[in-house]
Amino acid sequence: MATLLEVRSVTKRFGGLVANKEVSLAISAGEIVGLIGPNGAGKTTLFNCVTGYTHADAGRIVFAGADITRARPERVSGLGIARTWQLVRTFGRMTVLENVVCGALKRHARVGEARARALRLLEFTGLASREDVVAANLTLADKKRLEIARALATEPRLLLLDEAMSGLTPAETAAAVELVRRIHGELGLALCVVEHVMEVVMPLSQRVVVLDDGEKIAEGPPAEVVRNDAVIKAYLGEHYRGRR
Ligand SMILES: Nc1ncnc2c1ncn2[C@@H]1O[C@H](COP(=O)(O)OP(=O)(O)OP(=O)(O)O)[C@@H](O)[C@H]1O
Ligand SMILES: [Mg+2]
Repeated sequence: MATLLEVRSVTKRFGGLVANKEVSLAISAGEIVGLIGPNGAGKTTLFNCVTGYTHADAGRIVFAGADITRARPERVSGLGIARTWQLVRTFGRMTVLENVVCGALKRHARVGEARARALRLLEFTGLASREDVVAANLTLADKKRLEIARALATEPRLLLLDEAMSGLTPAETAAAVELVRRIHGELGLALCVVEHVMEVVMPLSQRVVVLDDGEKIAEGPPAEVVRNDAVIKAYLGEHYRGRR
């Protein structure tokens, strides 16, 4: 499969703190990659570097052949990377439909077309019945779902999900997993999924990348990564050893 995103030896510092230390990873078209690691490992920072919300101090980021190392978020979005936020950032005073129209306006200059596109995505994400609800009044699960719909409305080739399931009930989590699988299967997107719940991220991911203290400490198929000593020590804990 063709490489879509290539992160080459990215370093990001905040003063004396090194949030990403020479991190390299690649994501192919249509692939689901899990990005895991303890709190403060640098997962969100890496998403921020890739999407142009902050810029790496060293290294390169290439997406679909374009150097986006210093690109601004608008350009990254235009090239086809969309994301969601660890702490949801829906437009609280707008309705569900208006939120998704905002995403669709990225590709459709006419409001009517953007609206039609947004309505299709509300169907796809299961939010159609909430169309007129003001976003601030949604449950957390629906807010997270709305962020995914708005991200999809920008017509990305790669979707970065930053803890899209954290704080959800088991039933809501199962529904969110199902949505991610449909985004992958039916829309054919590549996904990078940051998630702390191993029961969610391991079955979902074709490949897992592990960050610890800013550095990549492991990478491979989920079944291999869960047996990796460094990963067990840094993140999973001894109780995880031998579990399937
Ligand atoms: N804007 C910032 N200014 C200063 N330090 C920051 C900033 N953003 C992140 N950091 C620091 O960089 C490190 C990595 O943070 P980051 O949010 O990327 O971790 P994470 O892996 O996403 O963690 P979590 O699982 O808790 O979300 C942390 O030590 C954090 O405090
Ligand atoms: Mg984070």
